[in-house]
Amino acid sequence: MDNPSSTLEIVHTKTVVSSIVLDASWPEKILALASRRVVVVDAALGQWASWVADRIKTDTVLSLSISEKGKSLATVQKVYEWFGRTGVMRDTLVVGVGGGVLTDLVGYAAATYLRGLPFAAVPTSLLAQVDAAIGGKVGVNTPWGKNLVGAFHPARVVALEPEFLTTLPLREWRAGLGEVMKSALIHGGWLYDALDTIELTGENAALWTPLVKETAKIKVELVNQDLYEDGPRMFLNFGHTIGHALETLLGYGVLSHGEAVGLGALVELALSERLRGLDVQVRIRVYRWMRAWGLPTTFPRLDFSRLWQQLQGDKKARSTGLVWVLLEDVGQPVLVPNIPEDLVRSVIKDLS
Ligand SMILES: NC(=O)c1ccc[n+]([C@@H]2O[C@H](COP(=O)([O-])OP(=O)(O)OC[C@H]3O[C@@H](n4cnc5c(N)ncnc54)[C@H](O)[C@@H]3O)[C@@H](O)[C@H]2O)c1
Repeated sequence: MDNPSSTLEIVHTKTVVSSIVLDASWPEKILALASRRVVVVDAALGQWASWVADRIKTDTVLSLSISEKGKSLATVQKVYEWFGRTGVMRDTLVVGVGGGVLTDLVGYAAATYLRGLPFAAVPTSLLAQVDAAIGGKVGVNTPWGKNLVGAFHPARVVALEPEFLTTLPLREWRAGLGEVMKSALIHGGWLYDALDTIELTGENAALWTPLVKETAKIKVELVNQDLYEDGPRMFLNFGHTIGHALETLLGYGVLSHGEAVGLGALVELALSERLRGLDVQVRIRVYRWMRAWGLPTTFPRLDFSRLWQQLQGDKKARSTGLVWVLLEDVGQPVLVPNIPEDLVRSVIKDLS
């Protein structure tokens, strides 16, 4: 026997290209992906279901009642059952149409059914267009933590269609702005300054196109450096360490995801001041934006020891402890492990 070896190696080389389509050509791009397409759409979207189905030429549509509370494995099971009934096959394209809850959940169903079906995302909320539908993280909540069951399954096409935003309720504009603000804080540039003058109205949704594109671009750049979130992609979790814990502890849906991220950003900015010398003016500015947009700025009353315990189960926790995202300055995020409990307690007390 020559050259004995103790391992055999398989090098996985499959590359999935995700096209974020910024113009009206997205139906053609989706049509080109597969000869059979099935659609799962948020049942609350009314006329948008047939609007999309007509454009991508399919009448196989599941209208799914969905909410943050129902972003669960039980709902995934319903989607699997529908996949079974409609006879989807390995080359059937699954198209998810809705906000981030729907695209996360349907993306996860697509990632796992038949060990992976091709997926396309048609995000309809601001939050999903600038963040949730981009980058391939799909998944669902568990009773003990947010987004703890999931996969990396990039959508082949992500359609950024401004038309959807014309029907978006005000609370969802605010929620989306929570994530836009996060991206502006970690990236800086014109987006950060633009937030001073933003007006919350869907009347002319096309006016939001530059902001949507820029926020999407920030995410794409980070995902391209680090698809599996071992490094710089973690910066996108700014505001989320506290935000996810709040969503779980208060009960899913009590605060919207964007509202929770906004409150998380205030805490993580205050921690950044104490630990990384961030200028307090940044938090003052963020506070002013959040007040102007109608996002909550007062930390909800809750037992700190429960919050602390919840934080230890965060997705970013490692066996060596929890990794936080803080800012040294606008556009200069850093990863900071193991912030002491007393410091977090005192910052939250100040914000309550
Ligand atoms: N995968 C990721 O990388 C990632 C990133 C950020 C957030 N997320 C997830 O995204 C979710 C939040 O997404 P969301 O804020 O879009 O929530 P959502 O999907 O619940 O949508 C918010 C509300 O807006 C409604 N809606 C959506 N589009 C509409 C439209 N065009 N017109 C009228 N109503 C519309 C929905 O029916 C829903 O009631 C969270 O579960 C969060 O974990 C995922």
